[in-house]
Amino acid sequence: MSLMMSQPSLVESPFDYERLFADTLQTVNQRLGRYLDKDACDASLEAEGLWEAMRYGTLDGGKRIRSVLAIEACKACGGTLAQILPTVCAIEMIHAQSLIHDDLPCMDNDDLRRGKPSVHKAFGESTAVLAGDALIAMAFGLIARETPLNDKVTPAALLAVITDFSDVTSVRGLVNGQYVDILHEGKPYTPEILEYIHTYKTGALFRFSLRAGATLAGASEAVVERFTLLGQKLGLAFQIVDDLLDIASTSEALGKTAGKDQIQEKATYPACFGAEASRQTVERLSRESLALLDMTDGMPQGYDPAALKALVGFISNRIK
Ligand code: FPP
Ligand code: MG
Repeated sequence: MSLMMSQPSLVESPFDYERLFADTLQTVNQRLGRYLDKDACDASLEAEGLWEAMRYGTLDGGKRIRSVLAIEACKACGGTLAQILPTVCAIEMIHAQSLIHDDLPCMDNDDLRRGKPSVHKAFGESTAVLAGDALIAMAFGLIARETPLNDKVTPAALLAVITDFSDVTSVRGLVNGQYVDILHEGKPYTPEILEYIHTYKTGALFRFSLRAGATLAGASEAVVERFTLLGQKLGLAFQIVDDLLDIASTSEALGKTAGKDQIQEKATYPACFGAEASRQTVERLSRESLALLDMTDGMPQGYDPAALKALVGFISNRIK
């Protein structure tokens, strides 16, 4: 279980993610709960099961790492929580949807997620598909309807974020990443294919989270690009650690079925390069991420990357 713990931490001191970001996590969970409240959905008698499945898949559990990245990027670029919160909830809805669909029998066929039966096990397959569908469509509406406009968040900036969201949630993002992941199950693959899978399957939402945070804070194009690169590195590091944990941890600790990548012959970093080389890649990506956060040009006065740096450490050293 201690695969990442033997390494020196990249942050100055180990920290408790849940404690450090307790307020942020509470705010995000509360807002998500409000958006998925029974009264906000048309949860009439007939649709109650659908609404319940959406809440079940979205609300309980989840580390909310993408949320925290988006919020901290927005704050680091001089923005406020209010500006980014609807987008953050949209990100979590897409993330939850992608896991609901990923667990389906026609995809990874996984019965356990976030420490409980996956949505299709609890509610049935057709409801799981529809709950995911509803979450996708709802996510777009949230960004459009709920984001407060101001001098930085202009209608044009908001439109750019929504267009970007469409790209990362479709065939320039999660969907093509997942497609290529499944396509190569049990088949030969190259390191380029592996990087492609992770860049889209996981990296797309990491890039979007950081980029949206910077964009909605009114950051310059150069800064938005820098945060996009940061998202690429962190998304890749996150997925490599995920693949390492799949081998070294337990289902109980992870809240999802461990050891499945090998059984399903998935394209992963440890399978392709070995565990040690994979850990070294995570170390390199972490160092490069920290270096990006040290760059101050284009950042507002008083720029403080401490929270984002702590997140880099958490992503690289996490044990669940
Ligand atoms: C988990 O990876 C799965 C993903 C990161 C993405 C899955 C994407 C889809 C199902 C497409 C989503 C569609 C839209 C419209 C956004 P994993 O299987 O490696 O991780 P796991 O061990 O947590 O299952
Ligand atoms: Mg899976």
